[in-house]
Amino acid sequence: MGSYKIAVVSGDGVGPEIIPEALRVLEVLRETVDNLDLEFVEIPLGAKHYLETGASLTSDDISACLKADAILKGPIGLPSVRSDDGTEVGIGIELRLRFELDLYANIRPVVLNEGVRTVLTGKRPGQINYIILRENTEGLYAAHRSGILLRDEAAVDPLVMTANGVKRAVRKAFELSKNSKGSPCDGKKRVTCVDKSNVLRSFAFFRSKFDEVAQEYQDIQKEYMYADAITQQMLFSPEKLNVLVTENYTGDILSDLASATVGGLGLAGSANLGDENGLFEAVHGSAPDIAGKGIANPIGILNSTALLLEWLGEKQASEIITNAIRKLLREGTTLTPDLGGSSSTKQVGVAIAATVKDLAAPS
Ligand code: IPM
Ligand code: MG
Repeated sequence: MGSYKIAVVSGDGVGPEIIPEALRVLEVLRETVDNLDLEFVEIPLGAKHYLETGASLTSDDISACLKADAILKGPIGLPSVRSDDGTEVGIGIELRLRFELDLYANIRPVVLNEGVRTVLTGKRPGQINYIILRENTEGLYAAHRSGILLRDEAAVDPLVMTANGVKRAVRKAFELSKNSKGSPCDGKKRVTCVDKSNVLRSFAFFRSKFDEVAQEYQDIQKEYMYADAITQQMLFSPEKLNVLVTENYTGDILSDLASATVGGLGLAGSANLGDENGLFEAVHGSAPDIAGKGIANPIGILNSTALLLEWLGEKQASEIITNAIRKLLREGTTLTPDLGGSSSTKQVGVAIAATVKDLAAPS
């Protein structure tokens, strides 16, 4: 158990509605778990902050993030707030955070919980339990704001892959598999390289670096799937999957599809990890269409909060949150509208916090 400084970014849109629910739960853990000390430092960032102050991501913001033990971040960005090149300011902040903090592994667990209706006919909880690891500092998104516009006739965004960049992400994927229970269908630990090496040189390079790292893990199966073919596998036989590793843009698309098979983006959590730093955020965006209504699902950010605690080594506290979320989903009485319920963000947060309290300090 330890003492940690958590940098908190509330962000835009529904961010300031979901982040307080994560803080509510963390506060309960701080009060009830022995020797767990948490200090929170808010870092104002986002499209709204940019409109108000003209500042996007300053060197002070970056050093505040670097000084913290972990970062808990709400969604950043508003569709109308754009840079001169037409891209979103918030997306720029998000990507720069990943680049500057060298958060090269974006880990997105895909788990079907009891009580959650899946769009996949016949799939049961326990049958969908895998991880998408998306390389997070290179690939197509490394081109952000550095692509080329040739007059108004052609535009080019290069896709960057480096040997070191690919190998460190792939190694993380094998480590995740090693520490997992394997795929639900056969319990085998397996890492699937998802690429388009049949079409692009960069992806063939990705696969060759995957092969080099796979040699270090003889006990773990390696497998290849093309990025288009994996979408079928994710829908028809997700139980065969354990850990997928892929390029940045490809992983962005695949992880949204994956979340749709286990209840939607409202539930999805993610960890952005480097060797030194960890940033934890929900996978969903700022959702301006529902912002201010108090109906955003806080479970995505709570799943991310559980990942944050796990990364800090606070396994017990992390499991308490995960178990409280599972209980809420299983009972199905306090759910936000995206899951067919009529409860508010706060009601869900309060219900989870109450269970966390019970689990952390059983009477
Ligand atoms: C995500 C988001 C981000 C991405 C945006 C906000 C930069 O879609 O985390 O999946 O595209 O990586
Ligand atoms: Mg995305």
